[in-house]
Amino acid sequence: MSASPNARASSDPVIGGRAGGRAGWCLVGGTAALLVVAIAALVGTAAETTDGLRAGVRLTARTSLLLFLLAYCASPLATLWPGRFTTGLRANRRFWGLSFALSHGLHAALLLALAQRDPALFWTLTNVGTLLSGGLVYVLILLMAATSFPTTAAALGGRAWGWLHRVGLHAVWISFLVAFGKRVVLVDAAYALPVGLLLLALALRVVAGRVVAERR
Ligand code: HEM
Repeated sequence: MSASPNARASSDPVIGGRAGGRAGWCLVGGTAALLVVAIAALVGTAAETTDGLRAGVRLTARTSLLLFLLAYCASPLATLWPGRFTTGLRANRRFWGLSFALSHGLHAALLLALAQRDPALFWTLTNVGTLLSGGLVYVLILLMAATSFPTTAAALGGRAWGWLHRVGLHAVWISFLVAFGKRVVLVDAAYALPVGLLLLALALRVVAGRVVAERR
């Protein structure tokens, strides 16, 4: 999930960025290592393996949200409040996006493990509709991640690339909104926090988009 290699950093609506290099890959590797250790600890210390897997599913959903928001807001934040921190954040968008894809890949892997270990429990937690809509979002995440490299982005072409990343990003945003939003009603009012963060992130992008349009 990167900015197109030819895209303008300030107005590019998608995940990614040109800069980063080795530090960026350390970010992705560090995220992977931390997540694997945390999941192993959750599964290893749970009274029942299925409890550990479920805790891992919830953990990765939450880490995915954080990483997604960093990628989603990097460019708007740098536009609205230019500075060292926000410029660095934007320069590493691609790596925040790839870290999100990785975290969400682990969400899927844990769900597969749960489905295999306890299919009856798995089907009480989800349904065919979620499987299909979530599966489609996973296809988009995979395509965005695969086209986050200069060669694959160039092969796709700027227009198609921009379309894919804009649609993909907002499909992920909607999935988070639905997944957390329904839990505000069904599970705990505290889920209003991630819902609020998602709405704030969207507002940031809208305002930053207007600022960029006015500067043109
Ligand atoms: C085939 C696709 C997917 C399936 C089958 C699935 C299934 C699940 C299940 C069963 C849980 C609840 C685990 C539990 O309570 O023990 C869960 C949690 C969650 N999932 Fe997924 N999911 C899928 C894709 C996605 C996608 C694409 C997103 C967002 C981009 C997402 C976001 C979430 C969130 C936000 C939670 C709640 C975490 C929490 O409680 O804090 N899921 N998912």
